[in-house]
Amino acid sequence: MSFLKEIQRRRTFGIISHPDAGKTTLTEKLLLFGGAIQEAGAVKNNKIKKGATSDFMEIERQRGISVSTSVLAFNYKDKKINILDTPGHKDFAEDTFRTLTAVDSVIVVIDVAKGVEEQTEKLVAVCRMRKIPIIVFINKLDREGHDAFDLMDEVEQKLGLTVTPLSFPIGMGYDFQGIYNLWEQNINLFSGDSRKNIEETIAFEDVQNPELEKIIGQKPADRLREELELIDEVYPKFNQQDYLDGKLQPVFFGSALNNFGVRELLDCFVSIAPSPRPKESETRLVDPKEEKLSGFVFKIHANMDPKHRDRLAFIKIVSGTFERNKPYYHVRQKKNLKFSSPNAFFAEKKEIVDISYPGDIVGLHDTGNFKIGDTLTEGEIMNFKGIPSFSPEHFRYINNADPMKAKQLDKGVDQLMDEGVAQLFTLEMNNRKVIGTVGALQYEVIQYRLEHEYGAKCTYENFPVHKACWVKPDDAKNEEFKEFKRIKQKFLAKDKYDQLVFLADSDFTIQMTQNKYPSVKLFFTSELD
Ligand code: G4P
Repeated sequence: MSFLKEIQRRRTFGIISHPDAGKTTLTEKLLLFGGAIQEAGAVKNNKIKKGATSDFMEIERQRGISVSTSVLAFNYKDKKINILDTPGHKDFAEDTFRTLTAVDSVIVVIDVAKGVEEQTEKLVAVCRMRKIPIIVFINKLDREGHDAFDLMDEVEQKLGLTVTPLSFPIGMGYDFQGIYNLWEQNINLFSGDSRKNIEETIAFEDVQNPELEKIIGQKPADRLREELELIDEVYPKFNQQDYLDGKLQPVFFGSALNNFGVRELLDCFVSIAPSPRPKESETRLVDPKEEKLSGFVFKIHANMDPKHRDRLAFIKIVSGTFERNKPYYHVRQKKNLKFSSPNAFFAEKKEIVDISYPGDIVGLHDTGNFKIGDTLTEGEIMNFKGIPSFSPEHFRYINNADPMKAKQLDKGVDQLMDEGVAQLFTLEMNNRKVIGTVGALQYEVIQYRLEHEYGAKCTYENFPVHKACWVKPDDAKNEEFKEFKRIKQKFLAKDKYDQLVFLADSDFTIQMTQNKYPSVKLFFTSELD
């Protein structure tokens, strides 16, 4: 197959949702359609379970397994589909944000009874910012939930989207009869038996056809006709370009658990979702069709076996092909590297591959060469944009608890930060180290891993910070900036990339600081534009 065809047939996407909306169930059903797994439950068992907040050992165990679910690839029709796993657990939100830099589109799962939830709002905000094409799947229609129109209103208001339904439920919960598929113009009847549902599709181009009453009953038929009329009047017509530009989001309804409405979603997805898109680097826009390889690291996964400290760096191929044993240029380290056993992912397995294409994810064994955000090229000096750090929510000093092991501690902290487990800030005044995390859980994970993987011991001490603000002065030489640095000395730190950060103790402080030093700009992410 030609290089161009390989690119065009790839669909690399993420499924995002608030925990429990049905992301894992939907992923599994998609894999079943692709013939990638034979039975349900295969993905589910790898999921970080509810209530795991108090049991980080369990998370550690599952973190090990989850390498295999980091990328789930399968073929469906003539398409190669790569699903990138995004942890729903809020303590791992940063991981999800980073993964969103490597997807070309997303599917958002919403629970029909719970509506739009907090985590969904945050993740969709990031997708919107990056203009990622979004499809919405409203799940659990076999249960009682909100009215479909109300839900679409809520999606528009809370998520800031412009939606148009491509399928619509006939009844809900106890009265759920099926869905009308506006995209394919047919009716899919719900029988509650997930095996049967797939075949029970009745072509129905004209809902005025009196056959409709016979199939779903007079009242539901009247109601459906009214609803479709309303949809026609109120919602914009679906237009693929608007969807690709992030201006319009199609909505599907179904029940992942019952494998209902999933095929419709998948069929529409493969036909409208984008193949790998061009990506902005600091110097230029890189097109996937370019011959030369470029790619970036969006995730690093530590080996669970402490005896083998190698890690797996996940690279998204942006352009060109990635070939085994060919030297590539590591831009940050200014050196060429060769990889003898690059991994590709297939369903739940990973295997060594000779060649990968744009849109694919390659896993590279790494002994410490890579950091998140690193770029590989064939010699060109460029860096991909868009892997910002967000302000952590928790901050603690980290202290060395074993003076004999100071080196090990430094190395461990350094490597864990490269993996993106947490963020390190070094205070300007006294060089003390502060660790910032999204969830309190990470402190336990870090402590445990430092001890077990690096033989170092640490303790923590509270440091009352509300938010980290990245600092960008209009003029680094002006008096205002000098004064800001002098007055705020105690709260200034450097992040891992030597960027200046102001650790503010409250929103009030941020406001006051901004008013007092208007030429010193404060940002809540490390990407300062
Ligand atoms: P997540 O990855 O988004 O966190 O959600 P997950 O798929 O694990 O689904 C969360 C719960 O919702 C699961 O139930 C799952 O079975 C259920 N679920 C998913 N889709 C549907 C659906 O279409 N209809 C209904 N009624 N339930 C659905 P659980 O009891 O938490 O787990 P389990 O014991 O069933 O595995």
